[in-house]
Amino acid sequence: MKPRIGVLTSGGDCPGLNAVLRGVVLAAEKLGWEVVGFKDGFEGLLPPGEFVILDRAGTDGIMSLGGTIIGTTNRGHFIAKVGAGDRAVVAADVIEKARGVLASIGVQSLIIVGGDGSMTTALQLQEAGINCIGVPKTIDNDLEATAMTFGFDSAVAAVADALDRLHTTATSHKRVMVLEVMGRHAGWIALHGGIAGGADAILIPEIPFDYEKLATFINKRSAGGNHSSMVVVAEGATPKDGQQVLHQTKEGEYRFGGIGDVVAHELAARTGKETRCCVLGHLQRGGPPTTLDRILGTRFGVQAVQIANEGHFGSMVSYQNYQVQHVSIADAVNRLRLVQPSSQMVQTAREVDISFGE
Ligand code: F6P
Repeated sequence: MKPRIGVLTSGGDCPGLNAVLRGVVLAAEKLGWEVVGFKDGFEGLLPPGEFVILDRAGTDGIMSLGGTIIGTTNRGHFIAKVGAGDRAVVAADVIEKARGVLASIGVQSLIIVGGDGSMTTALQLQEAGINCIGVPKTIDNDLEATAMTFGFDSAVAAVADALDRLHTTATSHKRVMVLEVMGRHAGWIALHGGIAGGADAILIPEIPFDYEKLATFINKRSAGGNHSSMVVVAEGATPKDGQQVLHQTKEGEYRFGGIGDVVAHELAARTGKETRCCVLGHLQRGGPPTTLDRILGTRFGVQAVQIANEGHFGSMVSYQNYQVQHVSIADAVNRLRLVQPSSQMVQTAREVDISFGE
């Protein structure tokens, strides 16, 4: 039997996941390995094991598809529960069951493609003696350990496209348009998407905003002859002296979303201008990856196999200085990269007259 390497995709989906899977398969086949794709994230590791053999033919043509052909979940038995020292803890018997499944089908190492929560789970599997390699994934691009994650560029492209469309209707009606985008803790998608789409104001979690100042800014634009304005707001943006907007989905579970409507309502009241809100939602997470995300995903997949071949288990692929390298998962987890208000990117936005509502 050929040596086997496992791969799974975990957490929210993201354009570029299939490029990673294809990269893993093509690189692994060169080494004479067989790739086992576990279904629906870590859940596929539970007995009896839900998996498919991924090969060259089965991954042909998948690079341009959004989502993940092996499924994913951000729920289930391996989901991080916060325990002592704020560390996520997966039950010991769950890890033992996964180890049993991996051993029974001859999988010697496991590539885990996921976000920060999935990397925390990967770390625990690694500490329990399962050979793990991490591949970071999030459209939010907010992991400190890697300069970029695939999926981000596609999300930014979706935001810019939405703004291009909203611009024409906003101008025709002399309206204020508020576009709510993803980004719970970090405003990268709003910042990059807003700049690319020619937004007039960008509201992000890292820079608390003031409704009065935002309204004054829009009124000044009107007085200067710009009767429409485009406001991009990250779902985690917070007004000064205010709170993030969350809604309860079920007992004990809250989800971000709704700040766009609140901002639209406040602006309409303070400017007297007709204002509409559009929530971009999962449109920014679906669909074909951009070329950049296809390339980055491919590079991450290939590098994950190379790291496994070199035996650097407990490592996560990382993009630094235009090179794909690796860092230890232990050093990578729980470290968010936030937008710095004094950064060049924010300064650039200010120079092109974008307001942050301060
Ligand atoms: O972390 C990625 C992300 O897309 C966030 O930006 C967003 O808040 C969240 O996932 C949405 O998750 P779900 O698909 O479970 O609603």
